[in-house]
Amino acid sequence: KRVVLAYSGGLDTSVIAKWLQVTYNCEVVTFTADLGQGEEIEPAREKARNMGIPDEHIYIEDVQEEFVRDFVFPMFRANARYEGDYLLGTSIARPLISKRLIEIARETGADAIAHGATGKGNDQVRFELSAYALDPDIKVIAPWREWDLVSRSALIEWAEKHQIAVPKDKRGESPFSTDANLLHTSSEGKVLEDPWDETPDYVYSRTVNPEDAPDEPEYITIDFDKGDGVALNGEKMTPAVLLTALNELGRKHGIGRLDLVENRFVGMKSRGMYETPGGTIYAVAHRGIEQVTLDRGAAHLKDELMPKYAELIYNGFWFSPEREMLQAAIDLSQEKVKGTVRLKLYKGGVHLVGRKSADSLYSERHVTFEDDAGAYDQKDAEGFIKLNALRLRLLAKRDR
Ligand code: ARG
Ligand code: SIN
Repeated sequence: KRVVLAYSGGLDTSVIAKWLQVTYNCEVVTFTADLGQGEEIEPAREKARNMGIPDEHIYIEDVQEEFVRDFVFPMFRANARYEGDYLLGTSIARPLISKRLIEIARETGADAIAHGATGKGNDQVRFELSAYALDPDIKVIAPWREWDLVSRSALIEWAEKHQIAVPKDKRGESPFSTDANLLHTSSEGKVLEDPWDETPDYVYSRTVNPEDAPDEPEYITIDFDKGDGVALNGEKMTPAVLLTALNELGRKHGIGRLDLVENRFVGMKSRGMYETPGGTIYAVAHRGIEQVTLDRGAAHLKDELMPKYAELIYNGFWFSPEREMLQAAIDLSQEKVKGTVRLKLYKGGVHLVGRKSADSLYSERHVTFEDDAGAYDQKDAEGFIKLNALRLRLLAKRDR
């Protein structure tokens, strides 16, 4: 028996790796992904070795480009936000991890996967819906739903009993739970659990406080092609490199902090704090280029579809026919979404200040308040309004 574990190298998933060996008497294959979380992933190799896992069963991979190119950018084409605000930074990473878990299971002849998400959250649902969609016969082990290590101290005691090194800073109660990747860092729990209390400063890890950001605004340009960002300040970049560069700008100017109470799929509300520096800049830029390149009908339909699309990603249905249908429609709308936007970054704010495109639908000749040289006949508006008013006038007459 063999199981592929989504392994961060941290204390919790190390305990899980050992627990799987002890409880299920099975071989553990570890998969550690560099999603741009900003932590070294190489140390996971030594930790896995120390648990007796052979080198050919230790998978450590940099998946940042795939993450941004095939997951983050397609999602941003939709301008997706869950419940108005959340840019879905954790939600969008889970399908990629599951996909690799299933592929590695095939390569190594494993019949099960395991993850370190709790039984209370969204992440278990996302990992598992993705896994079942890709392999209907896969077995899933979610130790948090099974074991009795319910307190931090029980977990640490179990770790020490099984010779797993417990770093000093992990000995006490951890003040909150985090998840990080190139798109965002999320923090939940403990000091954040009372939604009335302001998030303490030390929770933020990848943005300066907007109050301490530079007093001078910074102007940048982003170029788009087919709905995806391709260059920053005229310099061509791959998706992950572009997002990394935007993250740096967002950090410096204190952009992308969000304090949110959201509805989890399992039914409860949770309070989270998110930092999405580059993604927040990118989202404003993408809408900016759509302003001039998308037709109104296409733009408004996209806006109507967006909440549904965002909810599918939040709830874990990335690999579903309905998400793929919406994606096809969204992608089709992006054919001519190309050009350049200009943004001003200043003390926590991203301000769209300019947009231009060779494929722009914006017609200064039509919209001008000056002489339009016959581009538009103002008399046409009279009949347009009269017919639109017809039913309103019939109503008003009846109810007079
Ligand atoms: N609430 C966010 C979501 O459902 C983040 C969840 C993961 N966060 C964490 N701190 N473990 O996408
Ligand atoms: C977890 O429960 O593991 C993290 C939070 C979530 O998945 O919503």
